[in-house]
Amino acid sequence: MGKLFVVGIGPGKHDLITKRGLDAILSSDLICGYNKYIDLIDSLIGNKPTFSNGMKGEIERVKFALNKAKSGKTVSLVCGGDSSLYALASLVFELCEDFENIEIIPGITAALSVSARLGAPICEDLVILSLSDLLTPFEIIKKRVDAINIGDFVTAIYNPKSKKRDKYLKVVLESFYQQRGNLICGIVKNCERDNEIVKITKITDFDYDIVDMSTVVIVGNTKTYLKNGKMITPRGYLRKYGS
Ligand SMILES: C[S@@+](CC[C@H](N)C(=O)[O-])C[C@H]1O[C@@H](n2cnc3c(N)ncnc32)[C@H](O)[C@@H]1O
Repeated sequence: MGKLFVVGIGPGKHDLITKRGLDAILSSDLICGYNKYIDLIDSLIGNKPTFSNGMKGEIERVKFALNKAKSGKTVSLVCGGDSSLYALASLVFELCEDFENIEIIPGITAALSVSARLGAPICEDLVILSLSDLLTPFEIIKKRVDAINIGDFVTAIYNPKSKKRDKYLKVVLESFYQQRGNLICGIVKNCERDNEIVKITKITDFDYDIVDMSTVVIVGNTKTYLKNGKMITPRGYLRKYGS
């Protein structure tokens, strides 16, 4: 048995890959991943062989990586952002029995890099919500939205809109508006990649056209406010200990 690293490569730019993740990639004989993620680390891969495929190729990709590791290779299976969150770490464990030579290496998930671009919107309890209905029916997503409203959570919305699925984001933001008012929203497209766009707005002024599948929307809670163009959710230090 060789070794399988499941590596989160962060949002895009290489200086946001952890040292452990970078070392794993550089020490691997073979790199496997979704096409777009392989492109993001192209210059790190050099001449190493790669295996890449597209969406819905996840099972084939993981099986390929596991088989190559079983045959003695050192393999990095790369995932965008973190290697677990809406990514492949759990599928790896589901598809094999011998965990000894598997190492999960975390990465900076999009919510964290997006938050840093916007200011400090997630200093309080946070929900990460995906609007993709490929693996989770929208009926369940709507129940989760109700729970977010009850808890007044800051929410990072992943997979907010695709070509086939362009209505859910509006439904979710309207629910937030009805239950909690005109919350502040931060939109970051292509975070830490080429053509990055950062925009801060309110639910009633929300620009749905700039949102795509390479975007995360962070919606603040009822305490989130704007200061000099930055989105801030107070942790509560000043309220409790400030003079
Ligand atoms: C399948 S999920 C993968 C999440 C990834 N494992 C992570 O931890 O960031 C893909 C979604 O993550 C978000 N995303 C990932 N990287 C992003 C980036 N660099 N900029 C904006 N959104 C990103 C988008 O909402 C996208 O639709």
